[in-house]
Amino acid sequence: MADLIIAPSILSADFAKLGEEIRDVEQGGADWIHVDVMDGHFVPNITLGPPIVQAIRPHTQLTLDVHLMISRPDDYIRAFAQAGADYISVHVEACTHLHRTVQLIKSEGAKAGVVLNPATPLATLEHIVEDIDLVLLMTVNPGFGGQRFIPSSVPKISLLRRLLDERGLGHVHVEVDGGVNEDTAPLVRQAGANVLVAGNAVFAQDDRGRAISRIRSAAGT
Ligand code: DX5
Ligand code: ZN
Repeated sequence: MADLIIAPSILSADFAKLGEEIRDVEQGGADWIHVDVMDGHFVPNITLGPPIVQAIRPHTQLTLDVHLMISRPDDYIRAFAQAGADYISVHVEACTHLHRTVQLIKSEGAKAGVVLNPATPLATLEHIVEDIDLVLLMTVNPGFGGQRFIPSSVPKISLLRRLLDERGLGHVHVEVDGGVNEDTAPLVRQAGANVLVAGNAVFAQDDRGRAISRIRSAAGT
């Protein structure tokens, strides 16, 4: 199984001291930093844009994993790539020309991810999976941190992992996002996820290093 990557989501961090918050989870053993971008249109919440990604970039060596929950992502991909995003992930539900969008992300020098909402079938990946670096399966409906994990996501993760293995695409990351904590981490890990996003389960804790270690050991290797 691919190495486990823990990606704390800064959505649950204190935005008034983001640099400090990011350094805290980096020292606490985080592998990636997950950045949730919301536009108040694709999802019912507004968060941050490229200037914040640019501002946090010098504060960490870790991979910046940017999750775009926005309509018309093509209009902003260049700005996020130039701001320092390493991975840029777009929702299939927001992309009319998904293949074009994926090519755009790669042409800007970032790695490309594709995100599926909980009710979106894996079949939407059929003709794009060979072109991407990461699939992100939402395990809550996107828009807010601190929501409850949707259990029907677990068989979906297993099916995705099997689809990737059957096509010889074991290098494609399987990321899960929403309601991941010590209780749900073992379920998603056993189903085949290798990147675990955790917002509340890390940033709402006083000791972030301890929170990360507990999720990591609950998930297993
Ligand atoms: C939800 C975001 C998530 C969120 C996860 O729309 O995409 O990344 O921050 O937060 P928790 O881990 O608290 O569910
Ligand atoms: Zn996210």
